[in-house]
Amino acid sequence: MIAEALRALLMPADPVARKLGLVREMVAFESRARRLRRAWAPHREAAHTAILSALSHVPGRGSMAVLGSGLLLEIPLETLARAFGTIILVDAVFPRAVRKRARAAGSVRLVEADLTGVLRAIAAAPGAIPPVPCPAPLPPEALAADLVISANVLSQLPVLPRLHLERAGHADAKIGVFCERLVAAHLHALEGARGDVFFLGDVEREETRTGGACERYDLVYGVCPELEACKTWWWDLAPPGEEGRGLRVRHKVRAGFLRRAGLSDGAGKTGDREDPGPGGCTGRGSVSPEPL
Ligand SMILES: C[S@@+](CC[C@H](N)C(=O)[O-])C[C@H]1O[C@@H](n2cnc3c(N)ncnc32)[C@H](O)[C@@H]1O
Repeated sequence: MIAEALRALLMPADPVARKLGLVREMVAFESRARRLRRAWAPHREAAHTAILSALSHVPGRGSMAVLGSGLLLEIPLETLARAFGTIILVDAVFPRAVRKRARAAGSVRLVEADLTGVLRAIAAAPGAIPPVPCPAPLPPEALAADLVISANVLSQLPVLPRLHLERAGHADAKIGVFCERLVAAHLHALEGARGDVFFLGDVEREETRTGGACERYDLVYGVCPELEACKTWWWDLAPPGEEGRGLRVRHKVRAGFLRRAGLSDGAGKTGDREDPGPGGCTGRGSVSPEPL
């Protein structure tokens, strides 16, 4: 606990990311990845294979962008760095180990950015639900890249905003619509990319108790991307003992090229739910993220 707090303190990061808990989450993710190295190995392997087999379908080799680079667990960075002129890693937080690996791989640029466009507003005033920019902001380098990989970031985008809005006492229905819009806005942003877009992400959570029923939860608020040549597998996220005795947690992961204009619009599916206020998609185009 103390070691994790110290690591969080020493991790270079923007104050907004720190205040909202993204740094703490990254440190916890690092610890978990180390602890569950063996259990996560098949997921990691499947992600690498999916990404590498996608490469043969991408004609341009100038630059590629990874959205949600995290710990680079799912990203075969060194192979990608040999295949593309420039790699752009985008995340709200870059741990030291990732910075070091990026330097060693060469031609890798780090872009610290908020992929939702709402973090600054929530940090400043959690008492108000901010409008969701749609499409979500993407760095111009990512929009111009030959290949963009959305790397297991989609389900994570609403997690901390949701937590802060819950703590501020907002109604569950309003928070749900807000989160759905964050997910839809990311997918709309991907549609604006010039090059190919490869999606990798967990979309469903399955909790199984020993001798008990299995429960399933949608991680992406019903806004699932349509993918070409989609591969699906289970990520053994928490083997029994990790999140509770006799509890096993798995996430269903999908990977494939984004089918353009095949997205069901989350903002358009909210008619029977309470509207949290302005936001949601009204058109196409792209905006750049504010630096965090
Ligand atoms: C599950 S991790 C991604 C794992 C990563 N693909 C890997 O290979 O290790 C989700 C990532 O999303 C990032 N993230 C969450 N919310 C974000 C936001 N609003 N803007 C940018 N990055 C965000 C987190 O910092 C984290 O690195």
